[in-house]
Amino acid sequence: MVVRPSHESVVVPNGVLPARFRPRAGGTDRPALSLDGEWRFRLFPEASTGVDPADRGEGWDTIEVPGHWQLAQAPDAWPYGRPAYTNVLFPIPVDPPRVPRENPTGEYRRTVTVPPSWQEDGRVVLRFEGVDSWFEVAVNGQILAQSHGSRLPTEIDVTDALVDGANLVAVRVTQWSAPTYLEDQDQWWLSGIFRSVSMEHRPAGGVDHATVVAEYDHTTGEGELRVDVEHDAGHQARITVPELGINVAAGETVRHPVQPWSAEHPRLYDVVVSTAAEQVTLRVGFRTVSTVDGVFRVNGAPVKLYGVNRHEFEPARGRAVTPETMLEDVLLMKQHHVNAVRTSHYPPHPHFLDLCDEHGLYVIDENDLETHGFEPLGWRGNPTDDPQWTPVLVDRVTRMVRRDAHHPSIIMWSLGNESGEGCNVEAMASAIRVLDGSRPLHYEGDWSSEHVDVYSRMYPTSEEVALIGRGEEAPLADGSLDSRRRTLPFVLCEYAHAMGNGPGGLTDYLDLVDEHPRLMGGFVWEWMDHGIATRAADGTPFHGYGGDFGEELHDGAFIADGLLLADRTPSPGLVELAAAYAPVQVVPDLHRPQTFRLRNRYAFTSTEHIRLEWALVAGGDVVATGDYAAELSLAPGETRILTVSELTGQAVQDVRASSEAVWCTLRAVPREAPAWAPDGFHLGAGQVLVRPAAPLPPASGVPTRTAEGNHHVGPVVLDAVGRILSIGGVPVRLSRVDAWRAPTDNDGSRSWYDAVGDDEAWTKAGLTRLHERVEGLVREGDTLVVTARCAGAATDCGFAVRYEWRTVDHSTADLVITIRPEGQWPGSVARLGLLLALEQADAGAVTVDWTGMGPGESYADSTLAALTGRWQHTVDELGTRYTRPQENGARRGVTRATFGLATGPLTLTAGEVLVGDQQVHGIELTARPWSDAALHAADHPHELVPDGSLWVHVDAAGHGLGSAACGPGVLASAMLRPAPVTMQVRFSAGQ
Ligand code: GAL
Repeated sequence: MVVRPSHESVVVPNGVLPARFRPRAGGTDRPALSLDGEWRFRLFPEASTGVDPADRGEGWDTIEVPGHWQLAQAPDAWPYGRPAYTNVLFPIPVDPPRVPRENPTGEYRRTVTVPPSWQEDGRVVLRFEGVDSWFEVAVNGQILAQSHGSRLPTEIDVTDALVDGANLVAVRVTQWSAPTYLEDQDQWWLSGIFRSVSMEHRPAGGVDHATVVAEYDHTTGEGELRVDVEHDAGHQARITVPELGINVAAGETVRHPVQPWSAEHPRLYDVVVSTAAEQVTLRVGFRTVSTVDGVFRVNGAPVKLYGVNRHEFEPARGRAVTPETMLEDVLLMKQHHVNAVRTSHYPPHPHFLDLCDEHGLYVIDENDLETHGFEPLGWRGNPTDDPQWTPVLVDRVTRMVRRDAHHPSIIMWSLGNESGEGCNVEAMASAIRVLDGSRPLHYEGDWSSEHVDVYSRMYPTSEEVALIGRGEEAPLADGSLDSRRRTLPFVLCEYAHAMGNGPGGLTDYLDLVDEHPRLMGGFVWEWMDHGIATRAADGTPFHGYGGDFGEELHDGAFIADGLLLADRTPSPGLVELAAAYAPVQVVPDLHRPQTFRLRNRYAFTSTEHIRLEWALVAGGDVVATGDYAAELSLAPGETRILTVSELTGQAVQDVRASSEAVWCTLRAVPREAPAWAPDGFHLGAGQVLVRPAAPLPPASGVPTRTAEGNHHVGPVVLDAVGRILSIGGVPVRLSRVDAWRAPTDNDGSRSWYDAVGDDEAWTKAGLTRLHERVEGLVREGDTLVVTARCAGAATDCGFAVRYEWRTVDHSTADLVITIRPEGQWPGSVARLGLLLALEQADAGAVTVDWTGMGPGESYADSTLAALTGRWQHTVDELGTRYTRPQENGARRGVTRATFGLATGPLTLTAGEVLVGDQQVHGIELTARPWSDAALHAADHPHELVPDGSLWVHVDAAGHGLGSAACGPGVLASAMLRPAPVTMQVRFSAGQ
């Protein structure tokens, strides 16, 4: 009897009799028909649609497969419901295994004509790579199977139902089903046949499934290959590797010298599995994953994972990602020095794994399991701890391993994500071990690591990671579990939450990873923003997030937490990550001036393939360049100290006379760039300060007073009480001290580890409502001194401000501004500096030519990617259009900036800047065509409208970014506390 589970039942694992389920590995030479393309489609409000599976669906709509029905006509129309976003919470009542009667259900129809020859021998199977969430399949009106496991394959033997000529395939897909309780990943709820469908011929005596073991022995340089083949009895399979001259029987083990596979050198061999009836070609890599002395290794060498968490996503297609997008993701990762991916939180489209094999990325393949929505209920009813669900959970890991085990890129299996604890953790772990003993197991939810082989955590502080690195973490109550866990490598399966502007503080973790052998690396959360392509009422396109689709329950912009913006533009966070993950680390040596420290972070590659390019940069301009004459030959893990003189020889002596700041830039460049490398690609870059700038020459001019009582200080006009009226003839609409910024997503959250969030502290301190009261203007010699107090309503903290104006000449004014915090402060401040709103019609188009860090943005804890030089952008280009608008676009270390205003250039030159008693180099500059208040008020970038002013922040200091949206806030080293600051700035008009 065939059990027919309903969408509310958990009785049968995948709805298909397990013996028929053959997730085959590799490319076969047997024919297949793609069933991708147009299907007939109709959406019903309930799972019982009342439609006969024999109904051909004449007159129904058509829909593209693969795809999600909610996005079928997006962004122009939403005829089949809309996407919905929740992170943890289930959007249905938690009543497992039942689901609501209101259950959007799609009926799909199409016909397929199977070549007559297919029916002469063997079987015909219908294969689904992914259907969300439960489905039932009928052929020619005969119901054949039900299945689930949205991100897992299903194969159904349809042979006996086929007829000559056109066959009708009917698929009924429900949005909600019992397995919904297993698929509560933090992503959009989207339904339908979203991966490919095919009809395949399975010849009698064909290769049903191949299990590959391809290990590498680094002590002998030999690979060990064994391929076990499942096929009809009586047929012998041969295994050949033409390139190696291997020809053995299936099941036989063979050793042969090979080149190993690693993410650095992704060497693959074609392994051909043949029976009389079929040839399957597998792309095989020889590599061994092991833990020796508590250290994670590949091919015997310690390997660090510089990883990201990747969901599958495209703004217009949801999880129905195209092969082009998969390749784009892989190449973007390679370009940004990512060497590892966790496929959060389900097995990806199989083609993605092919690409990881081919281009070289280590993969944690994660089971399609998350039951997070049970956590708010105290984990009551959690399927992870319910024996009724054991077959279903075991079925999921089984299908994952059987589908994917032949991929060399997979170095670890993950049992799932955020699914609590319970009997099924052990059941899943055991099931995997039976199928594949060659890879360690991972599950973050198993804190004691009882059932897994690595210790994994998400979002711990760097202090805790340091303890773990040293093996000094707090003990577990169970002594034997504690001793075992201490022998395991540690992985950060998630860290550095990339939501909005951030993450900051990457180096705090990566320095530890580099230092401690036990720390095997980590995976930033997450690869990209899942912004859905939609339109505003007036047709303006934008990327929507939770709440933009009328959801009853949603988690807002928490879905926009990636390193790529929704249109796949690398965010500043990804550019910073590339610098942090650089395989050749180039940093100033902390103990020696004018010295670089280089470290080879590769596990298998020496640095002979790189050239060191140096440049001397004076006042932002490159004044000398060259290549390091000697060969840099660093073995994996090796460090070298190089002084600027060793690198540049005489050249550095020649620039020492400059009155400008001089920097030495060093870039590690591949001698032969990989095919995927973009222009300017390098493997690591850094800078050291050779000499600071000379102080600005003293101002010697005299301020003048007009008949109306205004004061002229060079190009700056102050009114009688000392407020700035204009600069270089450009009216100034607002000028005052500022200490606020439009909160980033991180600022807006209270971190896991702090009692107060930044935004909370700023609001409490009145920074959202600052006004400046000018207290007096006096002339002291040639200096006009304006005193003021800047504070917000309802608080007694504020700033005492002193402006000292001096004339340099008719076109240049010198300002020394001193800001002294007064009162009791509840926490950090966002910035400390001067805010100017200059009247400017087309402010976004104004060019900014600056000397300072660039070309991208930089914040106190995100400075690795930005190098001091001379850069040019328009004001619009300075900004980043985050999916949810927020503070963005700061440039640190700016010593000079020229704005190409409509009336002529206006230049700001930074002199001495003191924060507390620390002297800092240059100012922090931000410019935008709207106010911070408008930036904060906007929910989406297209809502921001230039307001006729150029808003310029000239700051002595700014607060870091941190990762408070999930994890720790800004660390003490990058936190801006209220502190006295003094900053000298010159305004020059017309130059
Ligand atoms: C983690 C979770 C991820 C994601 C992240 C926050 O707890 O595993 O799926 O929700 O938090 O963005």
